[in-house]
Amino acid sequence: MDPFEQIRARRDRPFPEVDLSQGRSIAYSRSMTSRIVELIDGNGHGNIHGGVILRMVDEAAAIVAMRHSQRPVVTARIERFDFFAPAYIGNLVSVHCSMNYVGRTSMEVGVVVMAEDLLKGGVRKIASSQVIYVALDEQKRPTAVPPLIPADAEEAARIKKARMRREQMRKLDEEFAKLQQEMPEV
Ligand SMILES: CC(C)(COP(=O)(O)OP(=O)(O)OC[C@H]1O[C@@H](n2cnc3c(N)ncnc32)[C@H](O)[C@@H]1OP(=O)(O)O)[C@@H](O)C(=O)NCCC(=O)NCCS
Repeated sequence: MDPFEQIRARRDRPFPEVDLSQGRSIAYSRSMTSRIVELIDGNGHGNIHGGVILRMVDEAAAIVAMRHSQRPVVTARIERFDFFAPAYIGNLVSVHCSMNYVGRTSMEVGVVVMAEDLLKGGVRKIASSQVIYVALDEQKRPTAVPPLIPADAEEAARIKKARMRREQMRKLDEEFAKLQQEMPEV
């Protein structure tokens, strides 16, 4: 079997059952990925291209959503993306991700991006984001995921804050939808 057929066969196997009564903590799905950025990742100023960081974030945050739900996921929204400082070619860029909030089928992952100069020393925060994923079933429809159960008081506070922010975002979404009706999209 050629490698592509092998991958297709693996993907077409039915997904294992997910026990929805088994809640998971934030610590359970936390992830960190890092890599040294190369010349090909840079723009004309020697900084890393923003799109490269966006891709790293989407890949790293999806790991958290997949680990929590044990399902394939799709990115529904990159809710916010702030760049605070540039990162340079040769820096080690690390993407730290942990679950903020879990709905019925959706999951919000909080992300912090750090850049480290390995030769001179020094680490700085360069970006942060919140990315929302939706878990899918075999028919590629949204499917329920296990609840997020806090492991300690710190996790409980994080979940509470994220729930309040989601509620605020829902209100903003409604206002935005009204505004969108009144103006052309492009
Ligand atoms: C994301 C997607 C599966 C949602 O499908 P849908 O039919 O709108 O699903 P529903 O209305 O049932 O919503 C499912 C959940 O997603 C959430 N959701 C859907 N669209 C969203 C958005 N744009 N932002 C935030 N959350 C969203 C809903 O609030 C709901 O959450 P809950 O179950 O936790 O309450 C669908 O819009 C899609 O496939 N989008 C394209 C995804 C994609 O290609 N991404 C890029 C590459 S991975």
